[in-house]
Amino acid sequence: MDEEEKQKWLEAGKITRKALEHGKKKISPDKTLLEVAEAVENKINEQGAETAFPVNLSLNEEAAHYTPEAEDDKKFGESIVKLDVGAQVDGYIGDCARTIDLTNENKELVKASEEALENAIEMVEPGAKTREIGAKIEETIESHGFKPIKNLSGHVMVQGIVHTGLTIPNYNTAGFELQEDMVIAIEPFATKGRGKVSSGSKTLIFGLKEEKPVRNQHARKILELAKNYEEYPFAERWLTKAAKGFKLKAGLKELVQKEVFTTYPVLKAKDLVSQTENTVIVTEDGCEITTKL
Ligand code: CO
Repeated sequence: MDEEEKQKWLEAGKITRKALEHGKKKISPDKTLLEVAEAVENKINEQGAETAFPVNLSLNEEAAHYTPEAEDDKKFGESIVKLDVGAQVDGYIGDCARTIDLTNENKELVKASEEALENAIEMVEPGAKTREIGAKIEETIESHGFKPIKNLSGHVMVQGIVHTGLTIPNYNTAGFELQEDMVIAIEPFATKGRGKVSSGSKTLIFGLKEEKPVRNQHARKILELAKNYEEYPFAERWLTKAAKGFKLKAGLKELVQKEVFTTYPVLKAKDLVSQTENTVIVTEDGCEITTKL
């Protein structure tokens, strides 16, 4: 990777982390998820970047993919909050997450995913096996008395693509060897319950899969607007300029049924979940965290 490209990954990482810290400061029991999500997304834009995906604010047993609706009045309350932020500049992406414990009773659960991430990052270098990194994450989380979520994983990124399909597992399972210049997001999830998530009934994040003609006029307007997000996932609440309320829901339904849009349903575990994530570049002798301040 040449120096110029490296600087772009570092810049995207820094913007992402700054936006995350901005949101973290605002999270408190009486705030709404919507005001924090909008503040984080504005902070990304203020820094000259775009979202790589909508701000995820997943509470308690939700592990990922909750983002507020257009007029969402849901408040944090005394919950465990996962704030997951993605920003991109010219396709160079930063992906970063932290867990904020508003219950004040789950410090150990938060520590489990934080320590798992730290230990995993220490192992990153060219030739490192993702199987061994996953095993380390699993071992660290279990040492705190919790389970890693096995069907969620970190991911290799390239310019313009958040999830390339190559994954960094959160447990001991077959994988591949890291190579110099790979950019990877590592994201251990720890939970009290069974180490698995399933899709909930709610979907608030969508992606453009394949453009096809649609009949419904609202669906057509929604599609036109969604095209602006190109290959990056978008939130339902970003589409209210095209349609509102029932019309928005109906339009989205058709776009999903026709497989024009893909869905990212809210992912839920059976019990409380914590998540910690950073993006790193694999360097000649180790790695460099891009999502640092
Ligand atoms: Co990620």
